[in-house]
Amino acid sequence: MSRLAKIVSGIMAGAVLILIVAILIVNRSDPNEPAQSDIPSLAVEYADFFPIGAAIEPSQTNGLKAGLLKKHVNWLVAENVMKPDSIHPAEETFNWSNADKIVAFAKENGMEIRYHTLVWHSQVGAWFFKDSEGKPMVDETDPVRQKANKKLLLERLDTHVRTIVDRYKNDIKSWDVVNEVIEPADPDGMRASEWYKIAGIDYIATAFQAAREAGGPDIKLYINDYGTDDPRKRDLLYDLVKKLLDQGVPIDGVGHQTHIDVYGPTVESIIESMRKFAELGLDNIVTELDMSIYSWNDRSDYGTVIPEEILAQQAKRYGELFQAFRDHREILSGVVFWGIADDHTWLNGFPVKRTNAPLLFDKQYQAKPAFWSVVDPSVKTD
Ligand code: GLA
Repeated sequence: MSRLAKIVSGIMAGAVLILIVAILIVNRSDPNEPAQSDIPSLAVEYADFFPIGAAIEPSQTNGLKAGLLKKHVNWLVAENVMKPDSIHPAEETFNWSNADKIVAFAKENGMEIRYHTLVWHSQVGAWFFKDSEGKPMVDETDPVRQKANKKLLLERLDTHVRTIVDRYKNDIKSWDVVNEVIEPADPDGMRASEWYKIAGIDYIATAFQAAREAGGPDIKLYINDYGTDDPRKRDLLYDLVKKLLDQGVPIDGVGHQTHIDVYGPTVESIIESMRKFAELGLDNIVTELDMSIYSWNDRSDYGTVIPEEILAQQAKRYGELFQAFRDHREILSGVVFWGIADDHTWLNGFPVKRTNAPLLFDKQYQAKPAFWSVVDPSVKTD
């Protein structure tokens, strides 16, 4: 190689090296840094009102997602790992490790935790509902055996609730005891789940009583449901809660899931429901907030580019909602989002697989217009 060729190849090698270093610098990401460090923290902005929470999976306790959570929320709920089938998959098996990860992450970062959910008709092991011979309890027709099955189911439930509450009572103060027990389309407005078919409403009373006895007076016990703004469903829930309270069942509050969309329901109907339950002396929490960009029953898909006017409409509605939440903080003690950023939301797969964007941060963890109207709902976006 001539001297000139050596010099040229030396310069080129140097240039390639510089380019590689530059690319590494530009792409470097500190896994503990939030995507945007120069924006306000939601939890700090809401410190005078109520805690702000998010549902998470254990895998999100590391990396960029963890950074986003640490900056913006002071309350966590497990998206799945504290549900019955995860934590108690078989009669003799409790799986604590995933739930423990979320509890540890919350404690390390000074966050509170909610428990979701001790009882549900979905994501629950089939073993609960098998009789002593392994047959489905719901198929039993003999009244004597039906009675025995009910007793066995309520004993299993009692053990389930006491074991879990006992383990986490010092770390978790807010508990979803039962989830989605009302179904207006079912005969008497009670969801015709296996729980209900086998035990009637006694399963609800048993779950609350066991939780209170195991956790003592300091833990707060909630009945959680979706569509609580709908007057028919709200009133069925109200009547049930009133009846249970009259029987002495220890219910502290109502969890309003609040899976809404950019078109409805009205903010007023959401608040009206909270007012009704507050009249019974109960607390209210928004437990699973997200706002789909499609109307209910719409199966279409915006694909990768969401129209700006839809994101603006979402921002406007989020602003109205949070203004109302602020105005009613005496009857609302917290707001939990069902996720934190649009890269991870059940609505990307339900009711069909498509692009949805229901949260305050986009897929790149950047604050959306909705974030800014939640930070300051007094700024009019239209
Ligand atoms: C319901 C449940 C949640 C979650 C959402 C959607 O609202 O309460 O646990 O499963 O559905 O994923």
